[in-house]
Amino acid sequence: MRLPCGCTTKYMATSFCRRVLASSYFGVLGRRGCNTAAFMPEAAGFEGVSGRAALQEFSVSNSESFWAAVARHRLSWIAPFHTVQDCDLSRGRIKWFEGGKLNVSVNCLDRHVHTCPERVALIWERDEKGSEVKYTYRELLEMTCRLGNLLRRHGVKKGDCVTIYMPTCPLAVASMLACARIGAAHNVVFAGFSADALAERIRDAQSSTVITVNQGVRGGKVTELKKTVDTAVQSCPTVQKVFVAMRTDNPVAMTARDIAMEEEMLKEDVVCEPAAMNSEDVLFLLYTSGSTGKPKGLVHTQAGYLLYAALTHRYVFGYHDGDVFGCVADIGWITGHSYSVYGPLANGGTTVLFESTPIYPDPGRYWDMVERLKISQFYGAPTAIRLLLKYGDQWVNKYDRSSLKTLGTVGEPINTEAWEWYHRVVGEGRCPVVDTWWQTETGGICIAPRPSDPEAEIVPGMAMRPFFGIKPVLMDSEGKVLPSNNTSGALCMAQPWPGMARTIHNNHQRFIETYCQPYPGYFFTGDGANRSAEGYYQITGRLDDVINVSGHRIGTAEIEDVVNQCSSVAESAVIGYSHTIKGEGVYAFVVLKKDVDIKEEDLCRELNNMVSKKIAKYACPDCIQFVKRLPKTRSGKIMRRVLRKVADCDLNSLGDLSTLDDPATVQEIIQGHSELLSKQKK
Ligand code: WTA
Repeated sequence: MRLPCGCTTKYMATSFCRRVLASSYFGVLGRRGCNTAAFMPEAAGFEGVSGRAALQEFSVSNSESFWAAVARHRLSWIAPFHTVQDCDLSRGRIKWFEGGKLNVSVNCLDRHVHTCPERVALIWERDEKGSEVKYTYRELLEMTCRLGNLLRRHGVKKGDCVTIYMPTCPLAVASMLACARIGAAHNVVFAGFSADALAERIRDAQSSTVITVNQGVRGGKVTELKKTVDTAVQSCPTVQKVFVAMRTDNPVAMTARDIAMEEEMLKEDVVCEPAAMNSEDVLFLLYTSGSTGKPKGLVHTQAGYLLYAALTHRYVFGYHDGDVFGCVADIGWITGHSYSVYGPLANGGTTVLFESTPIYPDPGRYWDMVERLKISQFYGAPTAIRLLLKYGDQWVNKYDRSSLKTLGTVGEPINTEAWEWYHRVVGEGRCPVVDTWWQTETGGICIAPRPSDPEAEIVPGMAMRPFFGIKPVLMDSEGKVLPSNNTSGALCMAQPWPGMARTIHNNHQRFIETYCQPYPGYFFTGDGANRSAEGYYQITGRLDDVINVSGHRIGTAEIEDVVNQCSSVAESAVIGYSHTIKGEGVYAFVVLKKDVDIKEEDLCRELNNMVSKKIAKYACPDCIQFVKRLPKTRSGKIMRRVLRKVADCDLNSLGDLSTLDDPATVQEIIQGHSELLSKQKK
């Protein structure tokens, strides 16, 4: 077994294979093994349906028959489902494939070990360039089983929730799959979050177990992840066990609660009985930002999520057997869950785990990796593309990118310049660029240029077409569906699909209020969109107080909560503004208490430290403007629209200011903004 620290122990390889292959649950496995091309929806023989366009229509108008056939073909079931769906969007009830039993880790591992044990499952692109490590399906299954047994031995049971605070690495994937194997839910927390943010998520998830590493390494910098966990668990009385893997050679202080993970794993059996899970049992929680100060733990369940991740991975990117899939997202976000882990592994694919940054050790990192690992599909964020564009073409042209077939983006709108550069320079004009729209809530990609037809026309900077079974609609401000093209409105989904989130952990009411009540009978995404004359969708951005900084979601209320805790601050308003690299930057307007006598620079430093400590570095304001007062309506509501216009230097269209309590406030703020800009230029 290869350990993350780089050690290799060729452990019981042959006897392991023999035992796994002989074990009883193989009786229930599907026969398809890891041949991703084995099932094409268009080949499923839906009566009267020929051609992909017709299949797309069929998948929406006959969504039950479509999803039933796909679920039977794509997943290996322990017991078949008896009800395809039982959903009522107006009441927030979403259930798929009830009666069915399956195990997600068996679907992602065992069935591929059965047919092609030596196929590479993971390629770990470590932070240290050129030191990648490969894991076969057999090795990943072995690691998962040992860890599953270890967790079980330490009392983790079906229905528990394990928090994972790790960098993107094979042991993190094995941790997710080990939870799935024994029926525990996982809660992966992005390793860039602070101790306070981690603690809040552990408490809300009521985890008694945490898995972490001694230290993280990213962009050559070491981060003290175990120490962060130690600080976090001080305020988490539920935590009883902390499993610690060794990412670096540096020992860390261990307490009675801590368990040396790799050492203990070696003592465990390599066969671990998979739990038979109901389709609607929880697979994982993933916290994301909403428009209040409190992050929400979105809940995804077993069968529907896995099926949707697998199908979208296969069709949106045109993934085929033998391809190497390079999604560079961190596993702490939904993109890492669906397209570094579950989608590719369910399809028996080879997936890259990227631990580093786009510019470490230099801006050629991605393309060096593409050449070295022979990546076929590269999936990244517009913010990174914009950043690399600025460094120039030479960093791309140095490397052979002939293995690339498809380029993808996700997380935020991609501007035309970045899209064109990605297409022309990175893809040498021969690789389709797919701008994929989706959310933590949707589980997988919902709108993308070529979901069904690999030859379809692509318009730059547009997500364009709905995936199989997806029916987007645009709503006007009165809550009516806008039927014609050439229009814009609030983006909703008119029918449920298997990959969607089921609830918010411990707060179903918030789920209903956020997603189901704004447009009764529809799922509200929180985004606005245009539909072109041709009927293609283009996402314009969030309609709520959530902003997207370098593709990372953050609620402005979360940042305000922290800023307002500063003893010098009376009140604040945080908004997003256009930022050339990050997409959106964080802009804080801050009103100080009377008689505060601190230098503004010191206060800025203090506020940044507070946000970094309470949330994460990426949430720190790019700009802090101290103002005497905020523009408020007569009813006391902050007029954020005006603040956004000021921050974006868009003073010609401030709009109707007549409801402001005192319109003079706006002039003060404009004045302060231009002083700040000239100070920054100096
Ligand atoms: C935004 C990330 C424009 C959107 C998978 C959404 C996009 C939020 C795109 C979800 C895109 C995602 N074009 N905007 N292709 N993809 N978004 O939950 O505002 O981290 O609501 O999921 O990102 O962010 P989340």
